[in-house]
Amino acid sequence: MNKKILVIPGDGIGPEVTTWGKAVLEKIAEVYGHDFSFQEALMGHVAIEATGNPLPDETLAKAQQSDAILFGAVGHAKYDNDPAAKVRPEQGLLKIRKELGLYANLRPILLFDELLDASSIKPSILKGTDILFFRELTGDVYFGEKKRSEDGNTASDLMIYERYEIERIAHKAFEAAMTRNKRLCSVDKANVLESSRLWRETVQQVSKNYPEVETEHMFIDNAAMQLIKDPKRFDVVLTANLFGDILTDEASQIAGSMGMLASASVGDGTGFFEPIHGSAHDIAGKDLANPLASILSVALMLDISFGLKAESQLIIDVIKKVLAEGFRTNDIADGSTNPYKVLGTQDMGKLILKFIDQQS
Ligand code: NAD
Ligand code: IPM
Ligand code: MN
Repeated sequence: MNKKILVIPGDGIGPEVTTWGKAVLEKIAEVYGHDFSFQEALMGHVAIEATGNPLPDETLAKAQQSDAILFGAVGHAKYDNDPAAKVRPEQGLLKIRKELGLYANLRPILLFDELLDASSIKPSILKGTDILFFRELTGDVYFGEKKRSEDGNTASDLMIYERYEIERIAHKAFEAAMTRNKRLCSVDKANVLESSRLWRETVQQVSKNYPEVETEHMFIDNAAMQLIKDPKRFDVVLTANLFGDILTDEASQIAGSMGMLASASVGDGTGFFEPIHGSAHDIAGKDLANPLASILSVALMLDISFGLKAESQLIIDVIKKVLAEGFRTNDIADGSTNPYKVLGTQDMGKLILKFIDQQS
């Protein structure tokens, strides 16, 4: 199979982890006889430094011409601590999501049994959890009008949804539920927010097309609690942009670490694959980042964008094997008394390549 893949490493640990996502793609191509060609492009702080623009036109053009995109992360401490900065790395990510029409962000909470004790939640509560989040990605308070009064003392972000935006992601989430355990929980704040009342009304309408799916509606505050109390009760979770952002960082603790959660953003065109984590300034440049979220994002790319299910499954099997043999990065090596073999980013990446060779 011939595919053109754009790699956007970004900032902080982005390049450190994306190196290994790309290396896994190269290894899969070698093992299965595919022809993957790669291009690179700038986004985020590195793009601002080079061009003044967090999403240069050239990056967007390359993205539109590619078959899939592997992204790392954007963000820099300089901007996090400077609320007045007008040009910001994250704007690049938001713009590319909008321009490519990536309205559905799939965030699977894939829990490896080997990592049950890496979580701060009891293994008995966690075991058997398998959740697929559908986070709406191109609407909500992220993209509504932003205002600041002239005197600077009043600010607002408009939380806004249109019916069609809710309908299209709801259909995707229900279709996924049909292939899984046929349970869907839609999360909103319809007891307070008008945009959530439109959300709930629309999801209720769409659910009529999927009578086999058991649909429930839950308020975001309760959902945040239930996720920790009894994560197994969830199958597909459908929610808006901001709620989904927050709930999935919370849900990463079910899988053991932010360094384990991959995502696929899909919609109108080219699929976009990225870990859910950010540029992690606290560990950047220290060979501490867990590359598995990027490698799992590659597994999602192979499956969703290229339909290469065996290749995708091989990556998941290899990760399981590596974990079963006791290899860990620092973030998933629980405490000081464990018997794990703790590896840096690079050694974990190399080990995954070696195991792919052995498995195939
Ligand atoms: P973060 O996700 O970067 O880090 C949160 C915590 O998780 C940190 O303690 C970090 O060390 C840890 N962590 C994250 N990824 C890890 C990995 N692969 N391995 C091991 N540990 C990992 O969130 P933050 O600290 O709130 O944000 C840092 C910057 O990243 C900010 O500028 C923010 O805007 C940006 N950000 C970008 C994205 C993105 O590009 N998709 C996502 C979230 C945050
Ligand atoms: C994510 C990030 C982004 C978001 C930021 C960096 C714009 O937190 O991908 O989860 O909020 O969507
Ligand atoms: Mn986030």
